[in-house]
Amino acid sequence: MSEPIGVAVVGTGDWGANLVRNFASLPGARLAALCDADPQRLAKSAGQHPGARALAHVDQVAGAADVQAAVVAASAVNHHALARVLLEAGKDVFVEKPLTLRVEHAEELVRLAQARDRILMVGHLLLYHPGVRYLKGMVERGDLGDLYYIYSQRVNLGKVRRDENAIWSFAPHDLSVILHLLDAEPLDVVARGSAFVQGGVEDVVFVDLRFPDGKLAHVHVSWLDPHKLRKFTVVGSRKMVVFDDMEASEKVRIYDKGVDRAGEVVSYGDALTVRSGDILIPRISLQEPLRLECQHFIECVRERKRPLTDGAGGLRVVKVLAAAQASLERGGAPVPLARTKQEVA
Ligand SMILES: NC(=O)c1ccc[n+]([C@@H]2O[C@H](COP(=O)([O-])OP(=O)(O)OC[C@H]3O[C@@H](n4cnc5c(N)ncnc54)[C@H](O)[C@@H]3O)[C@@H](O)[C@H]2O)c1
Repeated sequence: MSEPIGVAVVGTGDWGANLVRNFASLPGARLAALCDADPQRLAKSAGQHPGARALAHVDQVAGAADVQAAVVAASAVNHHALARVLLEAGKDVFVEKPLTLRVEHAEELVRLAQARDRILMVGHLLLYHPGVRYLKGMVERGDLGDLYYIYSQRVNLGKVRRDENAIWSFAPHDLSVILHLLDAEPLDVVARGSAFVQGGVEDVVFVDLRFPDGKLAHVHVSWLDPHKLRKFTVVGSRKMVVFDDMEASEKVRIYDKGVDRAGEVVSYGDALTVRSGDILIPRISLQEPLRLECQHFIECVRERKRPLTDGAGGLRVVKVLAAAQASLERGGAPVPLARTKQEVA
């Protein structure tokens, strides 16, 4: 058995603590260091993991010879600067979502990782969810027929953030799944939202995406809502599927529903028939997506594999987020997806 991979977690706040817990107990990994700019947070996580060194600054992580791979789970505004320092120091890096808050910054990280031959992975957690993997398998096998449209709801009464609005905080999850299932980038994006609780930070946003071939997607995100919903509805020509992450075990429901066209049309009334068949609830593994994600990172580092959620995927999501933000600022005007400098070159 080869040596465990030395991992450092930078940012040990609410979410970082979950990553720390996973890397501390993952076979093949060794939690070598913890880093947080807030001394109290650092002392708390270091107290729980005395085997890991407590470091106050990312430069100390960059310089640590026993750290091969680093996880950035600091506030999103700092993702770019932290990931850059770590990649430049030759570390493999896993950055929480969103990869960055600006397209140019995400492009720079992707380029840097490529130039240094380093792993760059982004925390698009849902792509490791057994329910989403099942859904992707259905789409790939053509079980749903032609994919028509997808909508998602990610709403609750929850943590009101100060430096990022509901799009940047929640929509990376929905967008990563939608781009993954449709295997395409949208043509344009429309977003409308409002900041009810604090000036300038939208609590509620409705995002519409238009894809090639008339495919559509819609994302509703909010931390100001009476419901707690984490749900995708996927409608295809043959079947419809609902992935509901709030369900304890029956997370995926497949509806044999649709509208069929008759082969030979005699009259308008005979042309279309509504099919409302069985509902199937497949058995889905209940493995923790975060654990699968952390395992995948370690595997990619060890085997020098391209992650399922690589930097390029992170960049695609940031491009859509940036277009949604631009539309929001223009009162809901459609914003076409700009091609990146790399794509133009
Ligand atoms: N994948 C998911 O499901 C999921 C869920 C929640 C949050 N997140 C992401 O995780 C990240 C952290 O979110 P959170 O809710 O834990 O926020 P948080 O505010 O609770 O924690 C952030 C921590 O980062 C530290 N930090 C900030 N700048 C730093 C720096 N320069 N160097 C070292 N430490 C620094 C802060 O002191 C704080 O302890 C965000 O990017 C968020 O989008 C992901």
